[in-house]
Amino acid sequence: MDNTLRLQYLEAMGIDVWLPRTLNTIAPDAGQPHAEAIAVDDNWETLQAEVANCTRCALCTTRTQTVFGSGYHQADWLVIGEAPGQNEDEQGLPFVGNAGLLLTEMLRAIGLSREQVYITNILKCRPPNNRDPHADEVANCNAYLQRQQQLIKPKIILAVGRIAAQTLLNTDAPLGKLRGKVHAFNNTPVVVVYHPAYLLRSLPEKRKAWQDLLFALQTIKIKGKIDERIDGQN
Ligand code: URA
Repeated sequence: MDNTLRLQYLEAMGIDVWLPRTLNTIAPDAGQPHAEAIAVDDNWETLQAEVANCTRCALCTTRTQTVFGSGYHQADWLVIGEAPGQNEDEQGLPFVGNAGLLLTEMLRAIGLSREQVYITNILKCRPPNNRDPHADEVANCNAYLQRQQQLIKPKIILAVGRIAAQTLLNTDAPLGKLRGKVHAFNNTPVVVVYHPAYLLRSLPEKRKAWQDLLFALQTIKIKGKIDERIDGQN
C-alpha cells in the first residue's frame, strides 16, 4: 500500500493534509534542477563521501567542513533544519550550538533522544555570517537531502523553522500558516515547528512550539495505526 493512500487516510481522519505543487523536487520554481535519479544501490558511505567532497556551489570555499547529519539511520523521525551555523561548521555536526541544545530538549519533551532521530539540514555547508540560503545552494544540496530521506525512509519529517518548511513545501507561506497541518514531502508526512533559535529570542512562542510537537506526535501515532490497519489487510 503506497504512502499516497496512507495520506488519504490521514485526511479522512480529519488531519488536514497539504500537498506541495510538486512532490519530487524541492522548489523548482526557485531555479532548482530536477531531482536526480537515485541509484538503487545508494548507501550512506558513498553519500557521506560525496557530500564531504562537494564543490557544487561557492559555500565549499568558505566552509570549515560539511555537516552531513547525525543520528539513527533507520529513524522514524527525520528532523530537517536550515543550515549549519558557526558551531556546526566547526564541529561537523548539526544543531550543536544553543539552538541545538533547545532542539534536543524539544525532542526529549516528546520522548525522543537525538540518537533515536536523524537530524540534518537543507544545506550541508554554512552560509557566511549565517545568511539565508541562496536558491542555487538549496538546489545543489537538494539531491543529498532526498537521498538521505530515501535511505532513512522516515515515518515523519519535522521541518524546523521557516526556511526548512518553505523549502521542503515549495511555498512562501509564512510559518504561522504552515504549522498545525500535515504536509507531505516525497509522500512522507511533514509537520512544521518553530526554529529553536527563534524560540530563544521569542519565549512566548514556546507554548506554540509545544503544540506543534504534540501535533507531530499525534500525526505519527495516527499514521502508525493506519499503517497497522493497512498492513493487516494485505
Ligand atoms: N540551525 C539550523 O537550522 N541547523 C543547524 O544545524 C544549526 C542551527
